[in-house]
Amino acid sequence: MSNRTFTMLKPDAVGNNYIGPILAKMNEAGFRIVAMKYTRLTPERAGEFYSVHKERPFYKDLVNYMSSGPIVAAILEKDNAVEDFRKLIGATDPAKAEKGTIRNLFAKSIEANAVHGSDSDENAAIEGNFFFSAFERF
Ligand code: CMP
Repeated sequence: MSNRTFTMLKPDAVGNNYIGPILAKMNEAGFRIVAMKYTRLTPERAGEFYSVHKERPFYKDLVNYMSSGPIVAAILEKDNAVEDFRKLIGATDPAKAEKGTIRNLFAKSIEANAVHGSDSDENAAIEGNFFFSAFERF
């Protein structure tokens, strides 16, 4: 089990000025930030990041949405990072996310769901490498 996961604060979270409160929740839950970047995905890069979903009906909208404004990408460290982080953010659909989870508190819809969290150690490594070089993580 690896102790790192990858997250993005999505365009809705950044646009609503939730960067500070969401990062505070992550820190309070014991996650340490080991890499962080404020950036924007082009449609091509967003499409590449979410290429596992390219056959899904929501893919085109997802790519448009994820390239619609700035995001914050980060690598987080904690014991059991992937699983604990998914508990902290709650279900993909904020209407189904448990009370007190980040998506329950800050997300508005299944698409604009405030944050991304890797679903496995393997994907955490792939997604972290998508945004950060070895020299940008600490
Ligand atoms: P995320 O956990 O980043 O992974 C895939 C993303 O697709 C998801 O969050 C949502 O932003 C978006 N999405 C939009 N519609 C759906 C849907 N019906 N099911 C799952 N994900 C969706």
